[in-house]
Amino acid sequence: MADDDRAADMIRVLRSVRSVRDLRPDPLPDAALAAILEAARWTGSGMNRQPWTFVLVRDRTTLAAIAAAAPSAGHVRNAAAAIILVMDSEMPELTTFDEGRAAERICIAATAEGIASALGWVPPHARPAVAALLGVPEGRRVRTLVSLGHPTEAGARTKSEPGTARRPLADVVRYDRYG
Ligand SMILES: Cc1cc2nc3c(=O)[nH]c(=O)nc-3n(C[C@H](O)[C@H](O)[C@H](O)COP(=O)(O)O)c2cc1C
Repeated sequence: MADDDRAADMIRVLRSVRSVRDLRPDPLPDAALAAILEAARWTGSGMNRQPWTFVLVRDRTTLAAIAAAAPSAGHVRNAAAAIILVMDSEMPELTTFDEGRAAERICIAATAEGIASALGWVPPHARPAVAALLGVPEGRRVRTLVSLGHPTEAGARTKSEPGTARRPLADVVRYDRYG
């Protein structure tokens, strides 16, 4: 692939990363899941601390229990799989940034693999329950998950065209000075 084509292809993937919450439970290929986890592993982090463990959940009972505990991440119920980010609790500001980077990278890698994804936020009151479901010890934070799967018909239909769901470039970019 020529450099221009590769750049255009990567930008196309980045622009097409969208939340798809209506997912099908049918299993995803192991190779695609491995590629997504590998992309997550290579995420950069502050001081290269890599303050994460990625828990890949495919067990349907566990997915349903997570959805029940954290309804804001209810899309995980019908997902084929979810990756739960279990984070260290030291240096919380840096770690929060790292968590966002890793979560986004999982979504990007999924999109590149032709797999839909949706971020889920586990609110504070639900974290102990989700941590217990996954056997996460005290002192580690369970806040972000990414649901993965192929979209249902509704899931495939509901998204707007790439580029129409964001503020225009002229609104979000300034050159040389803010004001
Ligand atoms: C920090 C953060 C938390 C989010 N939490 C949730 C969530 O709990 N449930 C959900 O369905 N989407 C969640 N989202 C996804 C956003 O709602 C979504 O990215 C945004 O509305 C843009 O929509 P799009 O991804 O389809 O373009 C979260 C996104 C971020 C960045």
